Amino acid sequence: MRIIAELIIRLSPATAGYFFYREVGFLNQNSEINKRKTFAIISHPDAGKTTLTEKFLLFAGAIMSAGAVKSNKIQKSTVSDFMEIERQRGISVASAVMSFEYKDLNLTLLDTPGHKDFAEDTYRTLTAVDSVILVVDSVKGVEEQTEKLMKVCRMRNTPVMIFVNKLDREGGSPFDLLDELENKLAIKVRPLSWPISRGTDFKGVYNLHNKNLYLIHAQGKDVLAVSDLKSELLDAQIGAGHAGQLREDMALFDGVYEPFDKQHYLSGELAPVFFGSALNNFGVKELLDTFVELAPGPGPMLTESREVLPAEPTFSGFVFKIHANLDARHRDRIAFFRVCSGKFERNKFYRHVRLGIDLRFNTPASFLGQKKELIEEAYPGDVIGLYDRDNFKIGDTLTEGEILKFHGIPSFSPEVFKELIHTSLKAKQLEKGIHQLTDEGLAQLFSFTYGRRKIVGTVGQLQFEVIQYRLKHEYGADCRFEPLKFYKACWLTSKNQVMLEDFCRFKSENMGFDKDKNLVFFAESEWSLNYFKGQYPEVEFHFSSEFKN
Ligand code: G4P
Repeated sequence: MRIIAELIIRLSPATAGYFFYREVGFLNQNSEINKRKTFAIISHPDAGKTTLTEKFLLFAGAIMSAGAVKSNKIQKSTVSDFMEIERQRGISVASAVMSFEYKDLNLTLLDTPGHKDFAEDTYRTLTAVDSVILVVDSVKGVEEQTEKLMKVCRMRNTPVMIFVNKLDREGGSPFDLLDELENKLAIKVRPLSWPISRGTDFKGVYNLHNKNLYLIHAQGKDVLAVSDLKSELLDAQIGAGHAGQLREDMALFDGVYEPFDKQHYLSGELAPVFFGSALNNFGVKELLDTFVELAPGPGPMLTESREVLPAEPTFSGFVFKIHANLDARHRDRIAFFRVCSGKFERNKFYRHVRLGIDLRFNTPASFLGQKKELIEEAYPGDVIGLYDRDNFKIGDTLTEGEILKFHGIPSFSPEVFKELIHTSLKAKQLEKGIHQLTDEGLAQLFSFTYGRRKIVGTVGQLQFEVIQYRLKHEYGADCRFEPLKFYKACWLTSKNQVMLEDFCRFKSENMGFDKDKNLVFFAESEWSLNYFKGQYPEVEFHFSSEFKN
């Protein structure tokens, strides 16, 4: 800083003014970046994500009472249930992004849908965070959705912390559960706390990080520092039996787990594990305190042309989620936008890279303490809401002019395919509606190479009902869906153009395009997919639109 100051003094006043302004701006931007941590809490439904979120917000003083965080679970799996939740969320938008202050840091917690049919929305949200807390139910262990979500985290090397919840319920040994986590999630784990018994006999946890004993029903005091596990104090607090077991576990522990390495956590290779009970508010504060100490702040983001660093002076970022306001009178939508570099300013013109136009935003919003607030500026790591009328689709980039496209917002192969058939005369409205709804990321839209038939692909049945409902209510267009018997949609590429064309000719009735005109093959079964892979060895079949598989 001293050298810079001396340099500035030797320059002409105008140049010095410019450099001074730039330098101060740079330092200010850096200090803002260092204050931010943007993350998501993910879990299989019912593991305790909503309960943990609520406890975090209570600790931070962002909400005053339990029950303020609405679960986004769709209990009955019906379209009306879904629409009601979405309508409420559209009005408040509070639960999609929750920013709160804790220990002088700005934490931004992104919500992810609880229903598996909307898993793709969760995958996209994970592209906008710098780390993740995964909640696992200690009784049920690793469940289907947990595995899928972890796969997405591993694709992007996102650092993950694990919270093993519901220790107040009866269940198996922590060693077995940790083995299951390692095997099923394909990540190394390292407990930073250790449970003392469980179920009705659950006594508390021993924090291996700071060597403190946290007791659930302590009298007078709930934290006790125990630097020596041999101390008789331990027996006095939790009883000789539990103290003996803890000593035994810890002796075994050192042989099984390597010392905690922060770098391995940051590179996504190792997950620190905490044990507790969100409902009883136990083990939550330690998790949050360790999280703010270890979790990474805004990091570099990959684009198709280069890596974008948060400290760069020019602004850039991308849309990762679009939320319809679901008000039949006006079709406003909110685009959720992650700032990746520079500083965003209200009312300043920015380049919408895909459309090649300049846009400015009059009412950008932040979501501090569950309230939507107008903001003047935003920094890397921030998630802001931009009101939009049809300009945005998921993955769109805003910059100060540079042509950038951020990586990591892929479409995955859908699992259910249906043909969209209009049943009213309002073909234009249907066309517009289905394009806008798929821009929101509700489903994927494909077309067959021949004819004008439209295929809608989703990961679950519920989305078809939602699309049908919204097309009718928001666009006045009736439609129905005809099932198609496809197993997967694969994006095709090949260095051997002749072989690719040969394959396209041979399976012409199974060929189509996605919305960006990328070539797609609709495989009928796993068997036929493998067969064609063998027949056309130089054609590459990709299961995600980013061609990374
Ligand atoms: P989710 O968002 O991951 O879907 O889970 P959520 O927090 O909604 O929790 C699912 C259920 O598990 C809730 O019970 C919740 O109270 C319970 N739960 C969460 N943490 C713990 C815990 O540490 N111990 C125990 N025993 N239960 C826990 P519910 O009956 O479905 O809902 P509610 O009526 O209690 O709201």
